[in-house]
Amino acid sequence: MDKKILCAPSVLAANFTRIGEEVELIKKAGGDWIHLDVMDGLFVPEITFGAQMVSHIKKVSDLIMDVHLMIERPEEKIPAFIKAGADYITFHIEAVIHAHRLIQLIKEGGAKAGIALVPSTPVSTISELLPFLDQILIMTVNPGYGGQKLIPECLEKVKLLTALKEKKGYNYLISVDGGINKSTIRGAVAAGVDVFVAGSAFFGAEDPVAMVKEMKNC
Ligand code: DX5
Ligand code: ZN
Repeated sequence: MDKKILCAPSVLAANFTRIGEEVELIKKAGGDWIHLDVMDGLFVPEITFGAQMVSHIKKVSDLIMDVHLMIERPEEKIPAFIKAGADYITFHIEAVIHAHRLIQLIKEGGAKAGIALVPSTPVSTISELLPFLDQILIMTVNPGYGGQKLIPECLEKVKLLTALKEKKGYNYLISVDGGINKSTIRGAVAAGVDVFVAGSAFFGAEDPVAMVKEMKNC
């Protein structure tokens, strides 16, 4: 049987003045997770929102809250996101020294732990952590903005992680984030992704229901 691909629309591309309706649209359109891009103006240039936003969205949606922390010193903020009801908390390997400790912190808080890699970071930087991870998020653009073009070479990391997962029996889900749309999804799925994030493709779609269906079944 074909594996089920999960769609995680990113609220970064939503209209923040109507966030409740936008979150409802994610559910109606067949989205599986809500991807929440937290930016601190330091790790990436922009600033988005914090744990309070996650806690408000959690109250109005039963979808999985997939928090992507693009922040420096994530260890200081993780407890607040756990409290806010995050289901997955993903931090950047480039932002930390004690990654294993953070994975423990997230799991002890009852959430699932993920690590993200920017395009210039190889999979080898997290090789010792693979057995402990619930999600590995491969950035297919440089983080910081929605609406960028996918860097195809990043999909080589998805292929490598897929092969390692099969060989060693690891449990992590592989996600791709950045520039995923109807034309680029095929390559990502062929490389072995489990979850795709879609910001501008989702909120810019004329028919999000049809778009999600097409992308999940490509
Ligand atoms: C970028 C964010 C992405 C962003 C993707 O730094 O991590 O999640 O929302 O946006 P699109 O799908 O428009 O490339
Ligand atoms: Zn993201």
